[in-house]
Amino acid sequence: MSQTSPPGLAPSRQPVLGLPDPGERVPTLAVPTVALYFLTLALFAGEAYGVIAGGWSHWLTVPMGAAVTFLMFSVLHESTHHAISTNTRINDAFGHVSMPFVAAYTIFPMLKFIHIEHHRNTNEPMMVDPDQWTSSGPAWQLPFRWATLDLWYLVYYLRRIRERPLTESVPTVLMFSVVVGVAALLTANGHGADVVWLYLVPQRFGVVLLAWWFDYLPHHGLTMTQRENKYQATRVRVGGESWMTPLFVYQNYHLVHHLHPSVPFYRYVRAWRRNEQAYLDRNAAISTWFGRSLTPNEYRTWRRLTEDLAPAAGHASAQRPVFHPLRVSSIEPLTEDSKVVTFDVPTDLALEYSYIQGQHITLRAIVHGTDLRRSYSIVSPVSANTLRIAVKQIPGGVFSSYVNDELQPGDILDVMSPTGRFQTALDAGARRSYVAVAAGSGITPLMSIMATTLETEPASTFTLIYGNRTTETTMFAAELEAMADERLTIHHVLSGTPGATLPGRITPELVRELAPGGVSAWFLCGPQELVDTLGASIDGTVLTEVFHTEPSQAEITVDIESTVMVSLDGVESTFVLRSSGDTILDAAMQQGLEPPYSCAGGACGTCRAKVLLGKAVMDQNHVLDDAEIATGYVLTCQAHPVTEEVRLDYDA
Ligand code: FES
Repeated sequence: MSQTSPPGLAPSRQPVLGLPDPGERVPTLAVPTVALYFLTLALFAGEAYGVIAGGWSHWLTVPMGAAVTFLMFSVLHESTHHAISTNTRINDAFGHVSMPFVAAYTIFPMLKFIHIEHHRNTNEPMMVDPDQWTSSGPAWQLPFRWATLDLWYLVYYLRRIRERPLTESVPTVLMFSVVVGVAALLTANGHGADVVWLYLVPQRFGVVLLAWWFDYLPHHGLTMTQRENKYQATRVRVGGESWMTPLFVYQNYHLVHHLHPSVPFYRYVRAWRRNEQAYLDRNAAISTWFGRSLTPNEYRTWRRLTEDLAPAAGHASAQRPVFHPLRVSSIEPLTEDSKVVTFDVPTDLALEYSYIQGQHITLRAIVHGTDLRRSYSIVSPVSANTLRIAVKQIPGGVFSSYVNDELQPGDILDVMSPTGRFQTALDAGARRSYVAVAAGSGITPLMSIMATTLETEPASTFTLIYGNRTTETTMFAAELEAMADERLTIHHVLSGTPGATLPGRITPELVRELAPGGVSAWFLCGPQELVDTLGASIDGTVLTEVFHTEPSQAEITVDIESTVMVSLDGVESTFVLRSSGDTILDAAMQQGLEPPYSCAGGACGTCRAKVLLGKAVMDQNHVLDDAEIATGYVLTCQAHPVTEEVRLDYDA
């Protein structure tokens, strides 16, 4: 079989950087491995009962037996690498007692020798690396090779038997002879069928799984040998961890095993996460669970898209957003009253301006003598990595008029790094049905959300219900038409076009009529009234983003003078503020502080801070969820202190 490097991986036979510390040690006793042994033993007992006494269907007992072989190999494998205990005797004991369930006709030391040869010589020709048997030869041969891996091990061993110590080779030959003899005896006594259905057939399927999942998937197609570049001789297979990891008994992270063989299997993912950056710096071989190779940079993007989107330490989007001056690279007309603006991001700021779907940036400019700032959603998919927004001119809107009428390519604007939580975590293996409802410029975050989701989740679908006045004022009409296919259904609702297919406004009844059943998540984006009305009529996972908020005020039953201490960039400032007075954000700015903010309407989340002591109540909130509020977060542009002392941290 021809072997190729994964696309984007520059083959390197240069010495690579040293091995990072996995941070995982061999325990005194690896309880999960011991538990796995006894559970598998129980599974075998069930299978034996089913075959010998219970008369169970082979459709049940064969998969049970195959699982026994596969799982017992996991225990055997841990024994081989002394990963069950710091005590060598315990490792050897588990090796000996698990061996019969994997390949009864040989002994643990023989298999240990073969497996260590694989580790020393990974990806060498199969006469040197015994596991190359599983990926050598044309594709049609592979299933036969997988089914005969243990027989190939015997051939491999016999070729080296003269070099092996007699204490190993003699018991190996003896065991083989005894097991063959016992099997023949049982057959002669009328138990041949039991031997076949209890052991030989299920064990064959188990060996296929082992060869396929333990050997072929982690190594096939990689050209580097262990000696040349250990980071590219074995791969990790990312994605679908919730089912891949238990199903593969963690061997989807097989690269971690080859780098750190004595790390117990149930610690592979933890070790990978701990040293992820170091592995990526060393150009580790990575593929998605369905086989697409990822360069370290592609992996970083993939991880951003699929990780739990709760802010992670060290991630750019988890840091407090800050302004940088950016140059406008282009301005293009979109509709008669909107434009698309693209910014140049210098290389040294690329990480700070990396974004995920549904995030927005805040622009700041002095317009006609007034310092203004406004938030705009990023419209590009994450894969485009382009900072692009669309600005619709609002009648009488100072900032939107400035962008549409005065801003020119080459101008410099203060642009805040991306922020926002209007997204769900993506999973390349998911098959989901999303529905988005947008009105007017509410389409802007959805352009990125829909494109990124459909790119990342090839089996998912989107339905978009999109309200506008006329076709001419419909933002991204042409782009949406080009995107529409069997995975993206678009319904245009036009309030100013009486003859339209769907005339009028978006209502809960219309949404119920147009949305498919079994919606995985709803995205509602537009004016507050629309979002509130629809949100109240929908069950399930509903994400909202409000574009134009109606001012409202919290009911504050106390009016006290509060001492407010604010921590911003690690610097603490204290001021006095009445409950019935300004918001905490306004008061902080009057003190000369520069807390982050954008919409000042409780809609963007930029001004978020955590209350560490005391209590503050908000006039309105369109961003924070119940869990965030429960942990103390408030939108400071909406927050008023209601206890005598309040401490807030913008950096939390
Ligand atoms: S500034 Fe937007 S929510 Fe406070």
